[in-house]
Amino acid sequence: GAAAVPQAPEDPLFGLMAAYRRDTDARKVDLGIGAYRDNNAKPWILPVVKRADDILRNDPDLNHEYLPIAGLAEFTTASQKLVLGGNSPAIQEKRVTSLQTISGTGAVHLGALFLAKFYNKGSDRLAYFSDPTWANHFQIFSNVGLPYKTYPYFSHKTKGLDFDGMVSTIQDAPEGSIILLHACAHNPTGVDPTQDQWKKIAEVIRAKKHFPFFDTAYQGFASGDLARDGWAIRYFIEQGFELCIAQSYAKNFGLYGERAGCFHFVTSPSSDAESTVKRVASQLAILQRSEISNPPAYGARIASTVLNDPKLFAEWEANLREMSGRIKEMRTALRSKLEELGTPGTWNHITDQIGMFSFTGLTEQQVLKIREDAHVYMTKNGRISMAGLNTNNVEYFAKAVDKVVRE
Ligand code: LMR
Repeated sequence: GAAAVPQAPEDPLFGLMAAYRRDTDARKVDLGIGAYRDNNAKPWILPVVKRADDILRNDPDLNHEYLPIAGLAEFTTASQKLVLGGNSPAIQEKRVTSLQTISGTGAVHLGALFLAKFYNKGSDRLAYFSDPTWANHFQIFSNVGLPYKTYPYFSHKTKGLDFDGMVSTIQDAPEGSIILLHACAHNPTGVDPTQDQWKKIAEVIRAKKHFPFFDTAYQGFASGDLARDGWAIRYFIEQGFELCIAQSYAKNFGLYGERAGCFHFVTSPSSDAESTVKRVASQLAILQRSEISNPPAYGARIASTVLNDPKLFAEWEANLREMSGRIKEMRTALRSKLEELGTPGTWNHITDQIGMFSFTGLTEQQVLKIREDAHVYMTKNGRISMAGLNTNNVEYFAKAVDKVVRE
């Protein structure tokens, strides 16, 4: 009976969020969960999202009917163009199929489930994740029964990419492994390969006939430039890879709780690519139906309203630049405060890293000490959500880091 069910640990990230909320100290700082905050540490509804929301609310034809199994077609089509580029040959050649999902998590799950059912069936399959990666990747792949290993990614010495370690492990992985890649703004480290490094990674993946699985949760949010943040995926597509993509709209639209996302499967150019994609789509539809029947409408409608209207799209790009710009300012501010204080160590990685997170290099012990003494909440691996910093608390945080590093 259920009496035999063992206690599972609390999710560390959501546990951290709850602990922050319970803390009554006025100085408390939330650098935990990756969610954008404005300069007053408040959640930010993107002005363009507010506008789309008003449009939807005033639409007399809007109702609460079911979406199709694959989701809102205007949304999935616009999502393809966003991630692959408007002139993508993959789209023109009908080599892509896309399903709306429960944000990025649902997209990773749908992809993993599909691969578990159909990819290299009958042989030993192995997925490879960066070390470290988003903690949920491990759980999602375990839940569908796909075994995984990790490839080196973060160098504790340089606080940058361990490129040689990454490439040689991918090189040595059994042929046909699934290689999970963060398209940009790597979570949790904020460290991305350069374009030349991506080219080399693609070469190794091709030589070993691996299957690339891209997770993209920060397009436009990372650099403020959608094409730049989408470069790696578009490069792989250009190279003719068969691959899949999990796309989240949580961060770049601020639609966290609305769970808007998309899963894309792209097959290589070939004479029967179109029929392959049709068959893949038919199987994905069955998986989707058995799990969620059809996806939730509201967040997808918001994103779709913006993505399909050139004026709103331009406004969205401006909102993206505002978010990424504020984060970059905080990177500069944090680094210069630490350097001003003469905090032991080097701090260039704070400005070298990109996107929502910085991997500070603080140890678990230091993280816990800062939490206790200064009421600053960050994950135990020393990751900080840069958006939690603002002009009111960056100096306070820098001083707390300075203190703990000297202890
Ligand atoms: C994070 O890593 O903080 C976010 O991506 C939130 C999540 O779901 O883990």
